[in-house]
Amino acid sequence: MLTTLKDVLTFAEEKNAAIPHFNIDNLETIEAIMDGVEAEQWPVILSVGQGAIKAGQVVYLSDLVKRIASETDIPVVLFLDHGIGYEQAKMVLDLGFTSVMFDGSRLPLEENIRISRQVKELAESYGASIECELGSIGGVEDGMKGGHNLVDLSQVEPFVQAVHPDALAIGIGNAHGMYKAAPSFDFDRIRACRQMKDIPPLVLHGGSGTPDPMIRKAIELGIRKINVATELRMAFMEGLEETVGKRDFYPMLKHAKEKVTAVVVQKIRLFRGSAVWEGKE
Ligand code: 13P
Repeated sequence: MLTTLKDVLTFAEEKNAAIPHFNIDNLETIEAIMDGVEAEQWPVILSVGQGAIKAGQVVYLSDLVKRIASETDIPVVLFLDHGIGYEQAKMVLDLGFTSVMFDGSRLPLEENIRISRQVKELAESYGASIECELGSIGGVEDGMKGGHNLVDLSQVEPFVQAVHPDALAIGIGNAHGMYKAAPSFDFDRIRACRQMKDIPPLVLHGGSGTPDPMIRKAIELGIRKINVATELRMAFMEGLEETVGKRDFYPMLKHAKEKVTAVVVQKIRLFRGSAVWEGKE
């Protein structure tokens, strides 16, 4: 069932849990993710990133997601990751995306507000949701290098009051890609944001390689969406590497998919919140 970011984040809020955002790159990763999601019966955000768009995949990936979502009762969000502006948001909304991100985190605040408002209005006219970002995320994703700035708390309320996004990604020391050393998160910034007026559900980018206790703490403090890309890609590539010697195409794909599904299940069990951690679900 195709649905919006707003809907799944309302559910996450009720459960004090987080919804996984998984970046998708091909049919096999979508199938592998859905196997994990079906096993866990948990909503999912299937996200098309800028790398997939540059590779010319967006039309095909959106068709695959719409088809697969129509065949399941699990809520599935078709999402644009790190959207670059109004035109791109319109392009994917015309394809049937239910939610878009506009990432203006590297722009001056006024400019971020101006474009975020335009994209929000556009998304709303399609019945879609919008995620915005304050404080940029470090690391490299799809060839784009992030700035690694902690969210400036004085900007949060003015931004939220002006834009009213459905979700807000904040920089707290997180980065895209695998961490070389254990990351250090400024959890107080999550706490402070959550106390602000009209704050929407908060988003943590760069989920890959984050130690489980840090994820748990982030969820306890109010993170409601967690993005994971690199760990799924690594699992897929490892699966191919482990079987490539056999030169047997479909068993190779099957093994790679199973590796991805294992990561998906592990992440969902972590993101489902304290009921699962305490063995009550
Ligand atoms: P990772 O690749 O570090 O999991 O980050 C994914 C992400 O934040 C996508 O927006």
